[in-house]
Amino acid sequence: MNILSLLTTDHRNVDALFTEFTLAKPDDLEDLARLRDLILEQLAIHAEIEEETLYPALRGRAEDDVLEALEEHHAVKATLAELERMPPSAERFRAKMTVVIESIRHHVEEEEGPDGLFEAARKALKPVEMEAMAERAAQLREAGPTRPHPHAPDTPPLNVLVGVPVAVIDRVVTTARQVLERTILRKAN
Ligand SMILES: [Fe+2]
Ligand SMILES: [Fe+2]
Repeated sequence: MNILSLLTTDHRNVDALFTEFTLAKPDDLEDLARLRDLILEQLAIHAEIEEETLYPALRGRAEDDVLEALEEHHAVKATLAELERMPPSAERFRAKMTVVIESIRHHVEEEEGPDGLFEAARKALKPVEMEAMAERAAQLREAGPTRPHPHAPDTPPLNVLVGVPVAVIDRVVTTARQVLERTILRKAN
């Protein structure tokens, strides 16, 4: 397994969640909250993996594309952080997720496209480097944050340094929030 096939699989998996969200019933608030949480978690860890492995390796080789990709991650994280605090019953909830879905689909098209970062990686990186990145990605998936952080550092060395403590705090916060949300939903039914 190399990092590019791993990230491409991530892209397909999250896109399947997007489709599921699009097809979900607008009044099934529990299902919308469940899909929101899954999308949030998948995108947060995916961004973390790219920002710690692939993107730094391509700095200087595809500098403008890396900077644009970081900026697109940043914008999506900001919207996701809002979505996380928003009840699925809010007027703008689905519209906000639609913006996330459109932004990510555009971003993925650029990453995987003929002049994109994945092609730059194929040209510039050795297979052994890309395999090592996949191993690092597996470690990050085990310990990585489960929430998007628009204000956390997204370039090394700071993103690496804050990775573990952020993950520990986040898991606790996420669990507490999910319990609360389930309670609220149960009361509403
Ligand atoms: Fe990306
Ligand atoms: Fe990606």
